[in-house]
Amino acid sequence: MLSLACFFSFLLMVKSSPLTFQERMLLKALGLNTRPNPIAPGPVPKSLRDIFEKGINKDNPCMMEGFGVPGNIVRSYRDQGPVAAMEEPQESLCLKKFLFFDLSAVENKEQLTLGQLEIKFKHNSYYGQQFHLRLYRTLQLSLKGMRESKMNRKLLVSQSFRLLHKSLYFNLTKVAKDWKTPEKNMGLLLEIYASSKLAGDNRSFAVCEPIQSFIYTSLLTVSLDPSSCKTPRAKRSTHSSPPTPSNICKKRRLYIDFKDVGWQNWVIAPRGYMANYCYGECPYPLTEMLRGTNHAVLQTLVHSVEPESTPLPCCAPTKLSPISMLYYDNNDNVVLRHYEDMVVDECGCK
Ligand SMILES: *[C@@H]1O[C@H](CO)[C@@H](O)[C@H](O)[C@H]1NC(C)=O
Ligand SMILES: *[C@@H]1O[C@H](CO)[C@@H](O)[C@H](O)[C@H]1NC(C)=O
Repeated sequence: MLSLACFFSFLLMVKSSPLTFQERMLLKALGLNTRPNPIAPGPVPKSLRDIFEKGINKDNPCMMEGFGVPGNIVRSYRDQGPVAAMEEPQESLCLKKFLFFDLSAVENKEQLTLGQLEIKFKHNSYYGQQFHLRLYRTLQLSLKGMRESKMNRKLLVSQSFRLLHKSLYFNLTKVAKDWKTPEKNMGLLLEIYASSKLAGDNRSFAVCEPIQSFIYTSLLTVSLDPSSCKTPRAKRSTHSSPPTPSNICKKRRLYIDFKDVGWQNWVIAPRGYMANYCYGECPYPLTEMLRGTNHAVLQTLVHSVEPESTPLPCCAPTKLSPISMLYYDNNDNVVLRHYEDMVVDECGCK
């Protein structure tokens, strides 16, 4: 099996040509059809940065730590919905906004395990001021003048909150699962009301202003691509290799810099990583040091008798480990993804 680490070594050799066969293969192995070309990339959400910095659980790269759900892909989507026109001014209604998140990047084979909406207000004054929020799922879009009837939406959340510089999070797992079918994604409607005491015509601009101007919403999903999960993983051995003569099969250091392969504009982190590779001879007799498979030991034995008919075994990875990557996809979403078999940890004769 060709490891991703191996692909990267190929890529370094052929980096001069624009989009090589090797790069296409590598992008495919990373779950991408083309090299992403972010147009207006936004900031990296703190939650994703945190997961990335915490690192990957090497024994279970298919569990998304921090969320406690199975998964190897986290995506953060920006809201693309417009502010809704308020036809009939309603008392104490500060904001009415459509929310729309394009989940088309989630592939069919992925199992969606978490959907989380974040609502954040960036404002310094009105500390602790109270509001009420209602979140609806839009079930049907009416074309006629956007006049929505209450039949076309379903109330998901109704709750009071204070502006305390804390994000509000809502569990939209069920809804996001539905949205994997794009036709079912009609978005959400968010309404925010000033506290009920401000009745009558006292819906002053000042009361609503922190809501209207400084709202930021995003959706985060965790999903599991089972095709890139080979669980359970073998326990990683802890013993370190003894020094070997330089021409003998062993792990060689190779640092892959994403700038060298022309990926710096869409890969957010890491800037590069230690991929390593295997190189060297597998001579007869194979020692334990060379971690030969039973088959390789037999093959060397046959080779020692009949060198013309049977080649020596090859120096190849015997232990690989995963890494996380943080990148922008073609919709400018921020994606964190765990990839297996990215780093060569040990080599042996196979
Ligand atoms: C979120 O909702 C899903 C399905 O509605 C549920 O299975 C899951 O336990 C919820 N997660 C949390 C953290 O409440
Ligand atoms: C509206 O409320 C503000 C304080 O919240 C108060 O100063 C103002 O007098 C009120 N105006 C009316 C018309 O009630």
